[in-house]
Amino acid sequence: MIFRQLFDSTSCTYTYLLASRPGGEALIIDPVLEKADRYIQLLRELDLRLVKAVDTHLHADHITGLGALRDRTKCITVMGEQSGVDVVSMRVAEGDRIEIEGLSLGVLYTPGHTDDSYCFVMDDRVFTGDTLLIRGTGRTDFQNGDPVAQYDSIFNKLLKLPGDTLVYPAHDYKGDTVSTIEEERAWNPRLQVASCAEYVALMRGLNLPNPKMMDVAVPANAHVGLAQEKVLAAGWSLTPQEALDLLGRPEIALVDLRERREREKHGVIPGSLHAPYPDLAEYVRPGGMLHELAAATGRRLVFYCAFGERSAMAVLAAQEAGLAKACHIQGGIDAWKKVNGPVVR
Ligand SMILES: [Fe+2]
Repeated sequence: MIFRQLFDSTSCTYTYLLASRPGGEALIIDPVLEKADRYIQLLRELDLRLVKAVDTHLHADHITGLGALRDRTKCITVMGEQSGVDVVSMRVAEGDRIEIEGLSLGVLYTPGHTDDSYCFVMDDRVFTGDTLLIRGTGRTDFQNGDPVAQYDSIFNKLLKLPGDTLVYPAHDYKGDTVSTIEEERAWNPRLQVASCAEYVALMRGLNLPNPKMMDVAVPANAHVGLAQEKVLAAGWSLTPQEALDLLGRPEIALVDLRERREREKHGVIPGSLHAPYPDLAEYVRPGGMLHELAAATGRRLVFYCAFGERSAMAVLAAQEAGLAKACHIQGGIDAWKKVNGPVVR
């Protein structure tokens, strides 16, 4: 496995780069905007292809690198289903898995620091975001923070992991880099409480100043959705209603870009083909399955995904590959369901 812990000294943020092999797919957790050049360079040096950029929660102390990395690498962005962000490519919930080639992260919903805080478990380690820090815990006094929920997340989820699980947090202000669940249970001063009420009293008594970047970072991080003006202006978008009116017509071919798990969980538009987004370049190039299908039948490719981001990027890739009629459904299957579009499982 390739594992890199990267540090932004301005916000004391740790960013994690994961991959299973050189030449393979990579995933990044909690990237910082100002460090995007560094990540891109490292990906090139390690011969990795970034396919997913994940935030543990909507950060208040730095601007996320999610949007910049998506725009530069065509990777997909991932956050929790509760997150107040405008658009990400994929949303996850408790019990889901975030997968790339050769790696799989279990998803734990751990509200408390914010109401959209998640932790990700991978084999011997857990990425704890700002839920559990080394000898600390994330503050709970803004962004719908809740010390009761955080107590539950820490004591009933994180501390239930095996004691030797490595703890990799999103921040450290003292220079520590990694801990273990057992070590935090024994030595984290915030966890030496006899009850939830005691923890709540401790957190409510902190009276911390707001993060310096908060007024800039929170609004910026709430708007990371892909700019789709070009796709819209070119007429390469269908509203969900327009797409619904075309359902079943022989001149279109609906193409679902989501992953198997998303299809099983959220359903599929009847009659659609499946072409997972990470392999899209293969499908749309001349000789690729979708390219040849469109050429042979004259059918218009209509891409869709969860929220319309992967599909907008797919339209641009297909247009570049010469598929001039390719378009997508704005807002994805989420928007499709809101106009009562049919879904099968
Ligand atoms: Fe945070």
